[in-house]
This record gives sequence, structure tokens and C-alpha cells, in this order.
Amino acid sequence: MSAVDVVVAKRDCRELTAEQIDWIVGAYTRGEVADEQMAALAMAILLNGMDDRETARWTQAMIDSGERLDLGDVGRPLVDKHSTGGVGDKITLPLAPLVAACGAAVPQLSGRGLGHTGGTLDKLEAIPGWRASLSTDEIRAQLADVGAVICATTPSLAPADRKLYALRDVTGTVESVPLIASSIMSKKIAEGTGGLVLDVKVGTGAFMKTTARAGELADAMTRIGGAHGLPTTALLTDMSRPLGRAVGNALEVAEAVEVLRGGGPPDVVELTVTLAGEMLRLAGLTDAPDPAEVLASGAAYPVWEAMIAAQGGDPSAPLPRARHVETVTADRDGVFSGADALAVGTAAWRLGAGRARKEDSVQAAAGVRLLVGPGDPVQAGTPLLELHTDTPDRFQGARRAVTGAALLIVGDPDATRPRDLVLDTVR
Ligand code: URA
Repeated sequence: MSAVDVVVAKRDCRELTAEQIDWIVGAYTRGEVADEQMAALAMAILLNGMDDRETARWTQAMIDSGERLDLGDVGRPLVDKHSTGGVGDKITLPLAPLVAACGAAVPQLSGRGLGHTGGTLDKLEAIPGWRASLSTDEIRAQLADVGAVICATTPSLAPADRKLYALRDVTGTVESVPLIASSIMSKKIAEGTGGLVLDVKVGTGAFMKTTARAGELADAMTRIGGAHGLPTTALLTDMSRPLGRAVGNALEVAEAVEVLRGGGPPDVVELTVTLAGEMLRLAGLTDAPDPAEVLASGAAYPVWEAMIAAQGGDPSAPLPRARHVETVTADRDGVFSGADALAVGTAAWRLGAGRARKEDSVQAAAGVRLLVGPGDPVQAGTPLLELHTDTPDRFQGARRAVTGAALLIVGDPDATRPRDLVLDTVR
């Protein structure tokens, strides 16, 4: 088989055969197909698409490029969640211990952040001593003992995806629905979860800016789940505003702990409970306790402590604090109606909370804290945001991101309508 023939077939809008897909994904992973040939194919797929059969086969080929994790019998049903990424999206942190406290086991194999959305591992690495890399034996043991693991994906899991995603990132071919869907689903299927809830973010702070595009991705992923016998639900959720009041690694861990202790911002609580309910449904735990009650009672907090301690972290250690903090104040009187998610995410990123390139390091304490919520009256000079960083030369760039239209102050309190967090559900 020749890589050029496969590229030409897709360039000419033909369906790829199963043999072509298996061959090119395998040969690319082994280094037998050049990056420029795979880049040409990714561009042809971005422009001409793949149908459901091709996408399911592409996903299978990516799974087959590595090993499936054998998590064996951990004594409870396995169920996982994936978020397409958003600003202040720390939901995984309270969610995994909550779902474990309700009786399921959560194998959350996660990634690091790139750009303005933070990665779950970066957040947890703000906790002194916490370790992201676990062996399969350690993952299995922790699932059996604690019920929840959040760790780095193992190198043997869908290696084709790692290579292809890095190539797509530098060739303008990330934004293809079949390629995004197969990338996400191959890792989750290879991980061996028994059910999957997808949180597909929509809005300025998300990868998918419109409900139509997010719906397309949700449909593609749920269909791949169906084709692979993995019960999958996708929720389309709002990412026009940051989730909660904290954006940045240590700041988000602190907010997640508040939620686990029964407090925290209402939107973070609502989304955590909604996703937990769907995960328990997919896990078949019809008699599980009500996740809203479990969370409010603080009963998920000991699971969090056990989960962090099992990975070497000290859950009671003070979190890093930024050496420099500045505030952003209101420039007029009115009612605060919200902050734009992309603007706040960009500010946090510029303060050092995120990375521009994969090899960059992040500042654990950097980020943004919102001091007011939608509907709060403000006057000119009222502090709206805190900017946190260890490197004060970053303040100027962060301030530029959160000026003008990024912070909405309106004259009419009725213009601050409550937020619809869950926009649609795809099963
Ligand atoms: N996240 C992934 O894991 N893969 C993609 O292709 C895009 C986002």
C-alpha cells in the first residue's frame, strides 16, 4: 500500500477502506509514513470529512496502535468523564471523588493544558508531593482501594494519537470533527472504562464556539461510543463565562476543595452534580445515593484526601500563593453581569497559569480570582478581579486581556439573566 494513494483517495473525496485506514495509522505510528504525508491526509480529512464507518475504523486503528489498559475487576463499575476543556474547568477534581463516594470507580487519565484552558494534571501538581505518573498496577490498586484515580495517560495508550495530535497542532488540522472525535474516544476506549460522560464545552472560552459545532462533535463521539459498545452520553455546557470564581492551578484546587467540603460556587456544584448523576446512571448504579446530598454533606472530601495521599500528595499542605497580586477595578457604576471566558482564560495564561508550547512550565500559583458574581452591584473603583503571578512583568499583558468589553457592567439589573449551564444532552 502507498501513503500517496491514501492521500489521493481522500483528496478526491473517496471513502477510505478499512485496509487503508489500518495500514496508514499503523505505518505512521511505526515511522514508516512521513509526517508530510500524514499532514496531507489530515488536511484532506479536515476538508472532505470521514463518514461514521471511516471514523469508527480510524478510532479502532488508533486504539490498536497501543495497548488497552487491563483494569480487571476493581469491585465496582468503571465510569469516566472527559471535558473538551474550558476556563476555570476544575470539575474533574470534585467529580472523581464524588462519583467514587457514590459507589463507582473513576479511572481519569488526563492531560496537561495548552493555551488558555488549564489541564487537570497541572492543577493537581500544585499540591505538594502529588505525582501524576502511575503504572497500570498502581492505577488498578488505587481504583480498588479508593475508587478514584486522576493521573497521566500511560505512554502505551493510543500512541498513534499522541503523534498525530502533535502533527495536527502544527499543521492547522486540529479542527476536524472526525479527527477530534477519534482522538478523544480512542484514548477513553483504550483506557477500559465501562461508561463515558462527555462534557462538550460551547462558547468563547471553548474549543467549539457554537452550539452547532459542539453538537456535531457530541454526535460524532456518541456514535463512536455506540460503535465500540461503550455507553456514552454527551452534555453540551456553557463556556461563555468561566466556571466558578477561580482560574489557575492552585486557585482552582482551593475552589474544588471548598466544593468537596460542601460549599463553593453554585455553577461548579451544579455541573459536578449533573455530571455525577449521568455517570452513576451509565454505571448502572440505580440505588446510588443522591450525588447532590453526598457533595453537600462533605462525604466526598475523605475520598479526595485518600486519592491525593495515594499519589504522594499532602491534602492538608498549604497551596502555593503568588508572590504578587493586583486588582482590576470597575471603570463605572452598574451591575456586574459576568466576565468573558476567553478573556479571563487568556489573562490567567499570560500570568503564567498556562503554557504556549508543550515544553513550557506553569506557575502553580498564577491565575485570576473573580471577586464579584453576576448580579452584584458595583461602583467605579470596586475591585472585580485579582490577578496572581510570581512574575510581575506579566501583569500588563493580563490587564490588556480583561479590559473593556471583557468585563460586562450593565445599567439594567434585569440584563443579568441566570446562566443556563447545560444546553443539550446527546445520548
Ligand atoms: N483533545 C484531544 O484529545 N484531541 C483532539 O484532537 C482535540 C482535543
